[in-house]
Amino acid sequence: MSVTLSKYTEHARNFNYMSGIERDRLRQKETAEVFTPTCFVQQILDEEEINSPDMFTNENKTYMDNSCGDGQFLSEIIIRKMKRSGCALVQALSTTYGVELMEDNVKLCKERLAGPNPTQEILDILDKNIVCHDALTYDYSFGELIGIEQFIGEKLI
Ligand SMILES: C[S@@+](CC[C@H](N)C(=O)[O-])C[C@H]1O[C@@H](n2cnc3c(N)ncnc32)[C@H](O)[C@@H]1O
Repeated sequence: MSVTLSKYTEHARNFNYMSGIERDRLRQKETAEVFTPTCFVQQILDEEEINSPDMFTNENKTYMDNSCGDGQFLSEIIIRKMKRSGCALVQALSTTYGVELMEDNVKLCKERLAGPNPTQEILDILDKNIVCHDALTYDYSFGELIGIEQFIGEKLI
């Protein structure tokens, strides 16, 4: 059975801000690990939605955070997409991407985005769409031929 929006929202927002990882000052300084507080995430997305009222109503629209941390933005994007478009979690996750340098943040992000009692399908989507990599050198293929290889393929065809 698929997860309800309210259960998902409860799970995604039940992560205490900047918790779960020992982040010393040097690490924070080196990686700029200061996450966006939830109230600011809401405010920013509210303002974006005023400018683009349909930004979450199209279930096929894709979003990416290339320094996604523990998913402060991505989780709210998924919640809004499910709320506005009425799509299921699998669809919202399939169109949401993240890149993050620190492995422990990636793990937290996946746990958050997975929701409670995730299916294997959900875990597989997250393994593909949330990657641990340096955003400056990643090819943004997310396991599919959507990067340079496909571009070359198209040119050859
Ligand atoms: C300012 S935080 C923002 C996190 C999240 N987007 C948010 O708004 O809460 C920056 C994040 O980028 C990550 N980061 C730093 N350098 C990176 C790089 N070269 N590639 C990918 N992620 C990086 C950090 O580990 C940290 O989680």
